[in-house]
Amino acid sequence: MMSAIRQASAHNRGVAIMAESTTSPAADMTNTATIHKTKPFAAAESLAGTWLSHAILGRFPDRRTIIEGWQEHSPFASAIISVLRPGVFVELGTHRGDSYCAFCEAIALTGLATKAFAIDTWSGDDHAGTYESDILEDLRAYHDHRYGHFSKLVQARFDEAVGQFPAKSIDLLHIDGLHTEEAVRYDFETYRDRLSDRAVVLFHDTQARHEDFGVYKVWRDLASKYPAFEFTHSSGLGVLMVGSQVPQELLWLCHAPESEQRLVRDVFSALGRAVRFQGRSERLWHQVDEAWQRIAQAEHERELFKTAHDEAWQRIAQAEHERELFKTAHDEAWQRIAQAEHERELFKTAHDEAWQRIHSLEEKLAILDKERREATAQKEAWQAFTLPFIRLLDFGHWVLRTGRRRPNAGQTAKHPHDNH
Ligand SMILES: C[S@@+](CC[C@H](N)C(=O)[O-])C[C@H]1O[C@@H](n2cnc3c(N)ncnc32)[C@H](O)[C@@H]1O
Repeated sequence: MMSAIRQASAHNRGVAIMAESTTSPAADMTNTATIHKTKPFAAAESLAGTWLSHAILGRFPDRRTIIEGWQEHSPFASAIISVLRPGVFVELGTHRGDSYCAFCEAIALTGLATKAFAIDTWSGDDHAGTYESDILEDLRAYHDHRYGHFSKLVQARFDEAVGQFPAKSIDLLHIDGLHTEEAVRYDFETYRDRLSDRAVVLFHDTQARHEDFGVYKVWRDLASKYPAFEFTHSSGLGVLMVGSQVPQELLWLCHAPESEQRLVRDVFSALGRAVRFQGRSERLWHQVDEAWQRIAQAEHERELFKTAHDEAWQRIAQAEHERELFKTAHDEAWQRIAQAEHERELFKTAHDEAWQRIHSLEEKLAILDKERREATAQKEAWQAFTLPFIRLLDFGHWVLRTGRRRPNAGQTAKHPHDNH
């Protein structure tokens, strides 16, 4: 990586516009800054127009996430890449990549041979809050195929990663890690000897005064030692000309009349707001689209439920109808059962009566049979009793009849019972 960084740095250095400075690159930074501050600025003409054209021609970056804090500075990211043409750009603190991708987009657009490095643990800090690995994965998915050929996402602590950069190799450094005074000083000091003669260092949040944010204190110190320009919008962005040979346009920013500085601030601020509002409006439109999709989905589900509901009602109506049919059949069956019960009762009564009659007839029959047998016995007894008298009567009759007719001699008169 070291040799790639050296090559990139050398390449872009060849086309840079050099600031007027004879200071040795190896000279002490504090002394260099003092020289910069005290040396009269050479460019008399206004470069406001140059900056305004850089601002206006800068492309709005596509990467606009929910972290809006840096988005208003993205027009300046385009401008400084275009003006400084850094061989090596390093960002300390990248998070979702709103700032880093603004620089990368400008590098890609200008076709520079810049090597870019984003350094972050991608686990968060006390100010950004802690977060999970999906943030880095999401950034990689956006970044790798667009910028992977010149840019690298380095997951490390800032002070661990510094060893990857040779001395005096970094032309543009953006410091946006933890925002306490100690952390910002430490980050600047850690990378200080890696800064090239053309180096510019950007500090985000120079205007933030809340919590224990202390960038403004570090900025106040450094801005008194190096040529400096500060954008005050969107929490502030400090532009510190640390190198002794930064391009003239950048030095002009620091020395321009107040009115021209204000013009540059106003234009970048207005453009920045446009970028942020565009991002916000895109997200809102995206939310509107999602809401429409959810509405369409809900409509679809409503239709499905309505169809299912209608079918269910049809089935309920059908079931009601069948229930009525069954109820009618059930009622009829109960009527028939009741009728059958009634008839069974009638038959039972008739049957009982018939049995009673049979029983009483049998009793009568038995009595009659007994009477018949008694009568028969009496008759036979009477017959037996009367038989001798009957025979005597018959004999008397016979005698009478035969006596009247006088039978011939030799004729023996027959008794009537002799024939029997
Ligand atoms: C304010 S955010 C960066 C915002 C980003 N520049 C943007 O435009 O949205 C700070 C990031 O710095 C990282 N960070 C803080 N201190 C760090 C350190 N010492 N080493 C590595 N990463 C650090 C955090 O993980 C966090 O993602």
